[in-house]
Amino acid sequence: MDWKVQLFQLNYDQREYDAVMATLKSNWITMGQRTIDFEAAYAAELGQESKCLAVANGTAALHIAVLAAGVKPGDEVIVPSLTFIADLNSVRVSGANVVLADVTSKTDWAMNPADIEAKITPKTKAVMIVHYAGYACDMDAIVDICKRHGVRLIEDCAHSNGGAYKGRKLGTFGDLSAWSFFSNKNLAVGEGGMVATRDPELFKKCKNLRSHGMTVASFDRLQGRAVTYDVQEPGFNYRIDEIRASLGLVQLAKLPEANASRARLVHRYFSRLDKIPGLVLPFRHYDRGTPTYHIMPVLLPENADRGRLIEFMKEDGIQTSVHYPSIQSFTAYKDIVGPTPVAEYISEHELTLPLYPTMTAAEVDLVCDSVEKNLPRAAR
Ligand SMILES: Cc1ncc(COP(=O)(O)O)c(C=O)c1O
Repeated sequence: MDWKVQLFQLNYDQREYDAVMATLKSNWITMGQRTIDFEAAYAAELGQESKCLAVANGTAALHIAVLAAGVKPGDEVIVPSLTFIADLNSVRVSGANVVLADVTSKTDWAMNPADIEAKITPKTKAVMIVHYAGYACDMDAIVDICKRHGVRLIEDCAHSNGGAYKGRKLGTFGDLSAWSFFSNKNLAVGEGGMVATRDPELFKKCKNLRSHGMTVASFDRLQGRAVTYDVQEPGFNYRIDEIRASLGLVQLAKLPEANASRARLVHRYFSRLDKIPGLVLPFRHYDRGTPTYHIMPVLLPENADRGRLIEFMKEDGIQTSVHYPSIQSFTAYKDIVGPTPVAEYISEHELTLPLYPTMTAAEVDLVCDSVEKNLPRAAR
């Protein structure tokens, strides 16, 4: 399909190409110095004495975080209801049960702190939150709830690379935090992720889980730092490689400008879409910090046939998507999760418009023209 405006495009240039070539020529492509540098640079950006471990992808980061949090079979973990399924899967494959918390309202799609607290039981081991689209949850309230109930907090920051809440970086509030660097993310390396914590003991656990529980990595052996190793607990191979770490270093340096570009584009979207009757723009008056504008979601009027609108926009060469189908619609989950009426409503009526840092204002206008023209045609 030849799109006029794609949902997402990579923000790559000669800097990424050079970084990969230099890595290939360095003769060391599995986890090594570039990974160490990437982790250090990421930790420095986060501040708050965070410690970071680069991993194979965001799902690996979440799985490590859940296990390091001490989640065991039979425990409960409170999870978001409007999110990518990796949040729930990482808990379920650890043998624990998921309990959904709803979002706040049709205009504030962040997790509802009151619903999180209402779902806490003696079995709750952790609360996992997501900063949907890069807009922070109400961290004052959520941190307070987790502290009062003595449960771990895990932040899924897959949408919030570079984001902040009241000036403090997202990913520094939880006991453990996870990022994805999948190709459509604000920081993209193809497949990659990061797990962070400020607790040295949790950091040690995460490090063990990343690499078979081994005390020594191949890179240490290359450096002559060790010849043998111990295995202290069972773990996985969730390592990243040097090629992706070198992409991560370049993308991290480009992140502030890329996020600023997204902000400008989203404000252009707002000024155009504000004029379309019946369309709801979530987070339109958001005031909790610096969003990362990961995606551009809108809530369609109740009488709009979303499937037809997607087809009409496709005819105009505009690619759209849905973030996310409801958890209750998935075979693996429909019988084991409770209702979350606000999130379910949003899942039925949400549409994601194209957004990426290299998008032009003219492309935003093309998308808005297409919404304006086709929304009345898609009325039921
Ligand atoms: C909210 C959210 N959580 C977790 C993930 C999982 O990340 P990955 O695809 O890198 O495993 C994603 C990525 O798609 C995501 O959007």
